[in-house]
Order: sequence, then structure tokens, then C-alpha cells
Amino acid sequence: MIVGRVRVEPPVMNASGVVAASAAGALKVEGAGAGAVVTKTFTLRPRRGNKAPMVVPYLGGLINSVGLANPGIGGIREYVEEYRRLGGSLPIIVSIGGETPEEFGELAIAATDAGADAVELNMSCPNVSWTASWEDIASIVKESVAAAKAAGIPVWVKLGFGKGLLREVKAAVDSGADAVVLINTLPAMLIDVWAMKPVLGGVTGGLSGPPIRPIAVKAVWDAYREFGDSIDIVGVGGVDGWEAAAEFILAGAKAVQVGAALSVVGLDVIREIADGLLSYSKKVGRPLEELVGAVHRGLP
Ligand SMILES: Cc1cc2nc3c(=O)[nH]c(=O)nc-3n(C[C@H](O)[C@H](O)[C@H](O)COP(=O)(O)O)c2cc1C
Repeated sequence: MIVGRVRVEPPVMNASGVVAASAAGALKVEGAGAGAVVTKTFTLRPRRGNKAPMVVPYLGGLINSVGLANPGIGGIREYVEEYRRLGGSLPIIVSIGGETPEEFGELAIAATDAGADAVELNMSCPNVSWTASWEDIASIVKESVAAAKAAGIPVWVKLGFGKGLLREVKAAVDSGADAVVLINTLPAMLIDVWAMKPVLGGVTGGLSGPPIRPIAVKAVWDAYREFGDSIDIVGVGGVDGWEAAAEFILAGAKAVQVGAALSVVGLDVIREIADGLLSYSKKVGRPLEELVGAVHRGLP
């Protein structure tokens, strides 16, 4: 499948921040049968992230308050070079987190120079202060995509679920982004009633895994219904097997990313999804490409 101008075959990747936070982790994702790897989000400056605990299990998924811990822009080249040196051969999607459109531009140039195949603009992390301070995300999306596109490689935009989602997707379409990645974790919090304290070191965090899947499927469905084939969609949120992946594809996604399930179920889930999608497409007698968005059309 060609997704956002990148060949992703099979159309299954890890989600940013899960397993492939290092080049060694990316190799594990490759070994598990993914069609591309997505890096942890890189910001301009190094970030230590929040206090422990950063990740806690919840209803078959996770709540995390990692807070984009990463080595900063210099880590991008190191990551890509190390992955290639160790024999990694999949397309690399470098996730970047700018605080401003200019920073997205700078990070995209670093990713391009390092040999990345695409950048994924993380515009939706609930665990950092700047995304919360953006009053008009749609206009920031527009400016950031324009800045990142100047670097030359495909630009994917990762958005979070919210009232303004379709305006943000429209901004991505209008500014020529190659794909939208829907969705990020949902803002969440857990309280320890005996300690009378928040459970997470970062106080609040982001919910992922099966509890968010119906919300993510609806986000994909909404975006496909509104924009059809004018932009490629990558579905992410609670994919824990081929059937969940098929839901996203029928709703309009060309590929899926898997986050929480890689640690809750295990890396083998990638191959189960890839094989399961293939046999599903054979059983219904349609190539996967024809199944993208099929729920909007209904199959004869
Ligand atoms: C531990 C953890 C770390 C994450 N780090 C990032 C990150 O650095 N950048 C990003 O865009 N999303 C990050 N995410 C969000 C995932 O990429 C994904 O959008 C979300 O978890 C929903 O997918 P899932 O339900 O399959 O986990 C992280 C998620 C988890 C659980």
C-alpha cells in the first residue's frame, strides 16, 4: 500500500513512542513483520520527561505521561544511521514535535538530512504544555506543514481527537500534507484513593489501547467521509489484532499503527494483523486497496 507517498507493505507500523524508541527497538518492529517504523517524537531540545510512574496499565490499554522524553534534534541522525548500520531496511517515519511552525521546519530538515523517508508532525501530545496553549491548531497545522514540506520528504500530520478535528484535517489537506495520522492518546487521569494522589508522575496523561478504539475509528470515518481520497489516512488507537485493523481500513484508513498492544499483547500482534488482513481480503474477495473506506460505500 502506498500511504502518504511512502510504500508501507504490509500496511502495519508501530505507533510513535512504543517499542521503536531506539534503533534497536526499530529492528524488533522490523523483525515482527511491520511495513515501516515510526520513531519516538524528537523535539528541538532534549527532554527528560515526567517523573515515574510514566506508564500504567488500564482496561487492556495504557495511560502514559512520558512527556516526550527524547535526546533532542541531534538524536535524529544518530537514530537513522544506527538503524541502517544495524541492517534495518524499512522506511523510517521520523516523528517530530515542534513548539512552533519554525521548529517543525527545522526538525523536518534534520530528518531529511538524516535520510528519513517521511516526517510525522506530532501536533497532539496531551503530555506537553505547548500543544495545550495553541489556540488555533488548524492555523498552526497549516503553517507547520508548509514549513516541513520545504524539507522535501513526505509530511504526515498526527492529530488528536477533539471538536476541531475536521478543521485540522482540512488544514492538513489544504496545505498539501501527504497523510493524516488519527489519533493520539486521549487526555486522562487516574487517582489513588488511599494515597489521595494522582497515580501518574506527570499527574495527567494520555489513554491508549482498546478503550479508545471506537473513538479513533469514528475519527477516521469522519475524516474519510469529509475528505475521501484527497488525503491518505493512517488509523491508530486500540489496534490489537487484525479485526480491529480491518475496522480502521473499512472506515477509511490505508494503514494502521499499533501502540499499546505491542507491550500488552506483544510484538507478534504485528504479524497476526498483517496475515489476518490478507486472509480477510481473500475471504471477502477484494484487494485491501478496495476495502479502504468500504463501509461508506457498502459492498455489493
Ligand atoms: C508509552 C507511550 C508513549 C507514546 N509516545 C508518543 C510519542 O512520542 N509521540 C506520539 O506522537 N505519540 C506517542 N504515543 C501515542 C501513540 O503513538 C498512539 O497514538 C496512541 O497510543 C494510540 O494508539 P494505541 O491505542 O495503539 O496505543 C505514545 C503512547 C504510549 C502508550
